[in-house]
Amino acid sequence: QSKIPVNIVEVGPRDGLQNEKGVIPVDVKVELIEKLALAGCNNIEAGSFVSPKWVPQMAGTSEIISRTHRLPNVHYAVLVPNQKGLDGLLSVLNTYNTSSDSESVPPPSDEISIFTAATDAFTRANLNTSITESLAKLAPVARAALDKGLRVRGYVSVAIVCPYTGQVDYKKVREVSKELLEMGCYEISLGDTVGRGTPSQVAEMLEEVKKDVPVERLAGHFHDTFGTAVANVFTALEHGVRTIDSSVGGLGGCPYSPGATGNVATEDILYALQGSKYSVTGTEYGNGTIDLDKITEIGWWISGQLGRESISRAGRAWRAK
Ligand code: HMG
Ligand code: MG
Repeated sequence: QSKIPVNIVEVGPRDGLQNEKGVIPVDVKVELIEKLALAGCNNIEAGSFVSPKWVPQMAGTSEIISRTHRLPNVHYAVLVPNQKGLDGLLSVLNTYNTSSDSESVPPPSDEISIFTAATDAFTRANLNTSITESLAKLAPVARAALDKGLRVRGYVSVAIVCPYTGQVDYKKVREVSKELLEMGCYEISLGDTVGRGTPSQVAEMLEEVKKDVPVERLAGHFHDTFGTAVANVFTALEHGVRTIDSSVGGLGGCPYSPGATGNVATEDILYALQGSKYSVTGTEYGNGTIDLDKITEIGWWISGQLGRESISRAGRAWRAK
């Protein structure tokens, strides 16, 4: 019986590193992205073009994406909050277009992620605007990116619980997701930003959003603050979601979600999906999947760069076995 393919979006270099206190050198970020691609990752969120006053950890994304040795069949995405962010990316792409890079090498980035949220309070904290205004500002950015041939992905933060206002109204998640889809996003990633969601909440939220957005266009983005992220991933899969965001070594958090810890660790998902009816899709560098041994080593390596041990449960146990 053939397995159901599951796509992983590796967000460690962006969602992971944006929340680290120390400044991580560009060299280390470049090496991280290169190592992830060599482990078989086919979708890597490489950084963000946001205000360095808001998120200083993400400064240097232009240099990172220009310098990274890129592999074919890998999508390198960057997060942008506004037109200025898109302009930052386009200026890198313009240099690339006039350079002598071979056709087989992918461009520094072929995708932007735009983001808003399901509550005004969170949107204010993260983007300094309301949901309605954020959507109005993002629509022309999405249009301009599509016109340049880029893929556009949309995030809806606080899809379950908001750190400022508590339980979220799933109808709002559905409404915002639908608007992002109509703007041209090929996929909407639903974020449990705070990492408090439980499987039953994930199920309820997804059933609501699916009323307006085909499930093939949805992705799950679970932070692991309360240890429910792997269970939430399986719940999302059982409800038809086929794309999951995760972070090597369980790095991460959101600077505007106090107390939230990292994303579900890529290692934890790879381990938990072994022998299941699902198979994780990857490039030839991971033999068609994403290599758990390599991801475990990368998780330990990047954690070492941050002065600590890997916090991925599977990554710790896999190495000790
Ligand atoms: P603002 O202060 O209202 O914006 O912030 P502004 O237009 O007044 O600009 C302020 C300064 O930033 C100006 O510089 C701009 O030039 C500059 P100054 O004149 O003061 O020197 N600026 C920029 N610089 C570089 N790149 C840009 C850019 N835009 C303005 N793109 C703004 C509004 C959107 C800029 C700000 O709120 C911002 O950058 N927010 C991003 C916050 C962020 O990155 N959050 C984390 C990512 S989202 C996340 O983690 C959730 C997710 O993982 C899903 C989940 O878990 O739920 C995706
Ligand atoms: Mg996140």
